[in-house]
Amino acid sequence: MAELRYEKLADDFAGLIAGGVLRAGERLPSVRRLAQERRVSISTAVQAMRQLEMRGLVEARPQSGFFVRARPPALVSAGGRATPEAPVAVDLNQRLAAVLQANQRPGVVPLGAALPASELLPVAALHRRYASVARRFPLLLNGASHTDINDPPLVRQLVRRSLAWGGPLDADEIVVTNSCTEAMSLCLRAVTRPGDTVAVESPGYYVMLQLLESLGLKALEIPTEPETGMSVAALDLATRSGQVAAVLLVANASNPLGSVMPDESKRKLAQLMAARGVPVIEDDIYGDLCFDARRPWPIKSFDSAGNVMLCASFSKCLSPALRIGFVAAGRHRQAVALQKMLSSGGTNPITQRVLAEMLESGAYERQVRVLRRQYQGQVEQTMAAVERHFPAGTRMARPLGGLVLWVELPEDVDTAALWRRAIAENIACVPGDLFSPSGLYRNCLRLNCGNPWSETVAGAVKRLGELAAE
Ligand SMILES: Cc1ncc(COP(=O)(O)O)c(C=O)c1O
Repeated sequence: MAELRYEKLADDFAGLIAGGVLRAGERLPSVRRLAQERRVSISTAVQAMRQLEMRGLVEARPQSGFFVRARPPALVSAGGRATPEAPVAVDLNQRLAAVLQANQRPGVVPLGAALPASELLPVAALHRRYASVARRFPLLLNGASHTDINDPPLVRQLVRRSLAWGGPLDADEIVVTNSCTEAMSLCLRAVTRPGDTVAVESPGYYVMLQLLESLGLKALEIPTEPETGMSVAALDLATRSGQVAAVLLVANASNPLGSVMPDESKRKLAQLMAARGVPVIEDDIYGDLCFDARRPWPIKSFDSAGNVMLCASFSKCLSPALRIGFVAAGRHRQAVALQKMLSSGGTNPITQRVLAEMLESGAYERQVRVLRRQYQGQVEQTMAAVERHFPAGTRMARPLGGLVLWVELPEDVDTAALWRRAIAENIACVPGDLFSPSGLYRNCLRLNCGNPWSETVAGAVKRLGELAAE
């Protein structure tokens, strides 16, 4: 059934409260103002406020209006599980392939893969830029050399942009890649050998686990907090005995938790790993998409030893179809560049120049500014809908950036079974155990919030909640 107007209005405000835009004790606009601004009737505005009151989110104070209540108890952070002390072999590829493939079927509501809706991406601008670059620089296709893997104008732009987050990067340490996934794969190959152990976040991004599996590496799960990211204390313990060959993590808006490590933790991690000679592979794909007004710095900016390899791409801001990213590999530059040559010989020169021009013209910056707010709104809408429709006892992480939401259901809910029922009804999501090589998080799931809020998305989240309650 289509959502009623007052429900929609209430959901909007619930989202703002869940996301911390409206804080405890703050006054909501009067119903009269609300009616005017949102172009609804007074009675719709009143009903919306009553809804929020019933949901425990706001309280009415005589003669003064509606105020945000202290945080509702249901909305606490998930995570913080006890992880295995020993490294484990990763065996997820087969199951993941089945889940991801089914999630991608046409007609499925895309709450699975962490992907933006294409309508949010500057596809037309990219088309124009490709045509223009191809026309103006015909020599770009005259045979790029396998030893000349970077387009200098792009490297210049990447260095310039890094000034916004504690750079500058050194132009010589940059290797342009086909995606962030390739960047991470190259780094792993450069600094590990089959059988080695890599410390990862728990819960952590499943493609990272797949990379470990494909390279014959073991994973050591490090507890990761919903707001502050990987526990540096746990990593400290885990790396004392010399058994860890590398650390692989997302410090800014981790996937799936949306956590951002505080600067102090980043500094400590950088220093500790440099002192122990454990290379850090940092995935900063969401760095530009954090919700705070100040763009968080990556661990890389706290590293003076060249020990951190920073990987990123333009998949979440411009288009995942571009397949372009980079790594700033510090002292591992040569080893990474060698792996790049062996792996794919280079990166399409036209795409590199297109990206260089998108960065130089300011188009990228404008896109990021809009998209950051868009993703934040979508995450908040999803949080509000989960709070409303999921069974009692459901908890959520509170993402500080990115476009996914981690949901923890009551203990007895098996999200692998929930996924099977959901996908049979053409609703995608990703079961929680795929974010842990030891199969933790069986009662959790991750929702993609990359799509503008719509009746279809709202209906799918609601239905997931109903299935979970069954
Ligand atoms: C943390 C993280 N890293 C990397 C990627 C993939 O990036 P790319 O498309 O550049 O390989 C994703 C996409 O979901 C992601 O969430």
